[in-house]
Amino acid sequence: MRVVSPLLLASVVSGATVAAFDAAGLQGIIERRLPQHAGKISFSSLQGGGDSFVVREGNSSGTVSVSCTSTSACARGLYTYLTEVGGVDIFWTGSRLHELQTPLPKVTSPITGASIVPYRYHFNTVTFGYTTAFWDFDQWSLLLDWLALRGVNLPLAWVGFESVLIPTLKEYGLSDAEIADFMSGPAFLPWNRFGNIQGSWAGPLPTQWVEDQAVLQKQILARMLELGMTPILPAFTGFVPRAMATHYPNASIADGSNWDGFPTVYTNDSFLDPAEPLFAQIQRTFLTKQQEAWGNITHFYTLDQYNENDPLSGDTAYLASVASGTLASLRAVDPAAVWVMQGWLFFAAEAFWTSERIEAYLGAVPEPDAMLVLDLYAEAQPQWNRTDSYYGKPWVWCQLHNLGGSLGLAGNLPHIFEGPVDALHANGSTMVGVGNTMEGQEPGNEIVYGALLDQAWSAAPLNVSDYVLKRATRRYLLKEVSPELEEAWSIIGTTIFSNQDPDTQMTIRSIIDLPPALSGLTNLTGVIPTKIPYDTNATLQPAVKLLWQAQQKTPSLRAAPEFAFDLVEFTRQLLANRFLELYSALVGVQSSAVSTAHDVATAGAPLVALLADLEALLQTNEQYLFSAWVRDATRWAHGNATYAAYLEYEARNQLTLWGPDGQIDDYASKQWAGLVGGYYAVRWQAFVDALVDAKTTGQAFNATDFSGKMLQLGKTFDTQRWGTQPNETWGTKGDSFEVVGSILERWT
Ligand SMILES: *[C@@H]1O[C@H](CO)[C@@H](O)[C@H](O)[C@H]1NC(C)=O
Ligand SMILES: *[C@@H]1O[C@H](CO)[C@@H](O)[C@H](O)[C@H]1NC(C)=O
Ligand SMILES: *[C@@H]1O[C@H](CO)[C@@H](O)[C@H](O)[C@H]1NC(C)=O
Ligand SMILES: *[C@@H]1O[C@H](CO)[C@@H](O)[C@H](O)[C@H]1NC(C)=O
Ligand SMILES: *[C@@H]1O[C@H](CO)[C@@H](O)[C@H](O)[C@H]1NC(C)=O
Ligand SMILES: *[C@@H]1O[C@H](CO)[C@@H](O)[C@H](O)[C@H]1NC(C)=O
Ligand SMILES: *[C@@H]1O[C@H](CO)[C@@H](O)[C@H](O)[C@H]1NC(C)=O
Ligand SMILES: *[C@@H]1O[C@H](CO)[C@@H](O)[C@H](O)[C@H]1NC(C)=O
Ligand SMILES: *[C@@H]1O[C@H](CO)[C@@H](O)[C@H](O)[C@H]1NC(C)=O
Ligand SMILES: *[C@@H]1O[C@H](CO)[C@@H](O)[C@H](O)[C@H]1NC(C)=O
Ligand SMILES: *[C@@H]1O[C@H](CO)[C@@H](O)[C@H](O)[C@H]1NC(C)=O
Ligand SMILES: *[C@@H]1O[C@H](CO)[C@@H](O)[C@H](O)[C@H]1NC(C)=O
Repeated sequence: MRVVSPLLLASVVSGATVAAFDAAGLQGIIERRLPQHAGKISFSSLQGGGDSFVVREGNSSGTVSVSCTSTSACARGLYTYLTEVGGVDIFWTGSRLHELQTPLPKVTSPITGASIVPYRYHFNTVTFGYTTAFWDFDQWSLLLDWLALRGVNLPLAWVGFESVLIPTLKEYGLSDAEIADFMSGPAFLPWNRFGNIQGSWAGPLPTQWVEDQAVLQKQILARMLELGMTPILPAFTGFVPRAMATHYPNASIADGSNWDGFPTVYTNDSFLDPAEPLFAQIQRTFLTKQQEAWGNITHFYTLDQYNENDPLSGDTAYLASVASGTLASLRAVDPAAVWVMQGWLFFAAEAFWTSERIEAYLGAVPEPDAMLVLDLYAEAQPQWNRTDSYYGKPWVWCQLHNLGGSLGLAGNLPHIFEGPVDALHANGSTMVGVGNTMEGQEPGNEIVYGALLDQAWSAAPLNVSDYVLKRATRRYLLKEVSPELEEAWSIIGTTIFSNQDPDTQMTIRSIIDLPPALSGLTNLTGVIPTKIPYDTNATLQPAVKLLWQAQQKTPSLRAAPEFAFDLVEFTRQLLANRFLELYSALVGVQSSAVSTAHDVATAGAPLVALLADLEALLQTNEQYLFSAWVRDATRWAHGNATYAAYLEYEARNQLTLWGPDGQIDDYASKQWAGLVGGYYAVRWQAFVDALVDAKTTGQAFNATDFSGKMLQLGKTFDTQRWGTQPNETWGTKGDSFEVVGSILERWT
């Protein structure tokens, strides 16, 4: 390992278009989240490098003053005051900052803080599909405040990309039909942007969509800037419509690899060689149009060519020419351009990406400040340590943790506190940031993402038990937690969220969401683990019971939205884990030579009963409604029923079949009311029926036949419309506490 000059790293930092200190932007947070305190908290800028803050008592009584070296640091200073002094917090499930007491709590002695890294990053390219695909600006506004307060200063900003790309392609002679042949549907744009897929199996991407997203992007970018963030914007990647090759017969354009078994019509995207002059021309057109559309607001560009795509050649000279052509095209337009790359390829295609090839690819960008690599899955499969700290390129320690936005409590707090600090101090380390790169954001695991961003402001690793308890206190709007709550969170924090098992370092998938089968579902490890790495009966079950007892003793707890959410979330997980036991019992009965059809039916009944209870539980909380996902999608239809049906299909298909014929079915599964009852439970009932049939007829269960039926069932589900039945509701139903009470009686 070599020692890297701090000057080298500092030069990357200067690549940021650090917004001038924006006190008005910071006041915006107060006006939105704690308007009753408007005018009582002031912000001022301090000289100095890096990101640091001081929070003091203000000059007049009942005021607080936050001083900082950057807008982002002031936002973090405000958050530190609100959480540590004010005892309030903001969550993905909602902001509770308005609960801050009046008059403002006093700052008895100044509170200081400083970031240990220049960059705090957030998002994965696919978060824009799995989580925010259908968001409106109100939903963005909550997340952007959440990010700003935690000190994020480098977010990805993909929304509206197509509104720049499409006019660019038109300028090169492509027709509307040729472009439509390339663009994917609204729920699948991230994978089109990655060059994994092309085209849309639901019909062409509507112009209205592209226009609406451009309007949304302007709002998002304006907010990011006023919150002191430097957005990472897209660039031209080289992926082009097929017809580009016809228009430019002499340009080097080749079909890429197949992605996840999609038919060629939807994958094998055409790739224009970055060494071609045409590539540089298109890049110039794209970036110029992007500057016209959003302003000259950043030097950071997200650009991935090999995310689950195989390079055309493994030749190191070829890889070097791709990288140098790509960077040259960016720097020709923006001399300070920084190429930001998701480092997933180095793990996912590790056999291809040998050290030699990585070095050739990254080394072809000799300017040390021209690239920023996201070590995407650093919490479990770090690549910086096998690449000599990315051969000197600055990189960000990222937590991936979630695939597809599926639910499943999991996390490794001790490691996300220690890992980044260790990596920062490793010999020759060129680490410059920490960040979250979850595919989907699910609020049950919000703790681990907040924790990593909090660690960015602490030189020493944070203390897990202390962290978890203080957070629970804020979450439940308490001055201090009761013994029951303390014990519940101490169990959860030190087991489920301190999972050290190297085989299950990812959101644990429940088999409920997977296509039913007699084998191959349980005990999976790796990136889609179904193995539960803790003892449910010794950990989760007592924790749920403790939460239950806590609200029996203190009924006022029920009024805290995050308490109700946690009770539902832990109970959801308990049912999901119980289901695994019931499933194993069913498989045992089925495989016995002496069991009868009646035995199988008896063993199968509890699975179906449990799913009915799960559906009823999820219906009680607004965070678990499939109808909300559908509602969010269809509101973009402007009342056009045809467009609404198209959007609803997109929304359903992503969560279910993910592709026209179940190419990666259930990858983005969700334990949400409406999906559990309307889809997963229907599949499991069909499975139990098929097993009973097999016993009755004395034939073996026919897995091929069953999966064909499941595909049909998925297709039928995907083409339904929510609310076509008069008694389907869009909102919550039932009382969480009643439902949890009866579940605890039945299943513990
Ligand atoms: C760091 O690496 C350099 C160069 O290989 C070496 O000289 C130095 O001893 C190392 N320092 C530590 C603390 O390992
Ligand atoms: C508070 O008073 C000090 C000393 O008079 C002054 O320098 C500072 O600017 C004031 N701060 C604010 C926030 O008004
Ligand atoms: C392609 O190259 C051939 C041979 O050099 C040349 O005759 C032809 O004009 C070129 N076509 C285009 C569209 O540039
Ligand atoms: C698509 O990619 C696969 C490799 O992943 C390749 O075998 C196949 O020939 C490609 N098809 C086309 C039409 O390019
Ligand atoms: C943006 O930067 C380009 C040069 O990269 C310049 O030509 C253009 O005028 C700038 N646009 C704005 C709106 O500042
Ligand atoms: C990098 O670190 C990970 C996690 O600690 C470890 O599993 C892996 O073996 C290390 N790789 C190398 C090349 O040291
Ligand atoms: C962590 O915090 C807990 C609870 O506040 C405390 O009891 C414990 O001593 C702390 N551990 C360390 C290593 O500081
Ligand atoms: C998982 O594997 C363990 C041992 O490897 C076994 O005891 C257990 O029964 C398996 N669980 C399931 C649900 O298959
Ligand atoms: C409704 O949406 C469909 C599908 O996007 C579109 O073809 C049609 O023109 C729209 N109708 C109106 C009246 O806007
Ligand atoms: C299983 O079902 C498939 C599809 O229905 C059928 O083609 C196949 O013959 C069946 N296999 C057996 C062993 O019955
Ligand atoms: C839903 O409505 C239909 C038709 O009105 C009715 O037959 C059915 O019983 C209702 N189902 C429920 C669960 O209320
Ligand atoms: C866990 O507890 C449940 C209910 O209390 C019981 O049915 C089940 O057998 C227990 N599981 C294990 C693995 O002990």
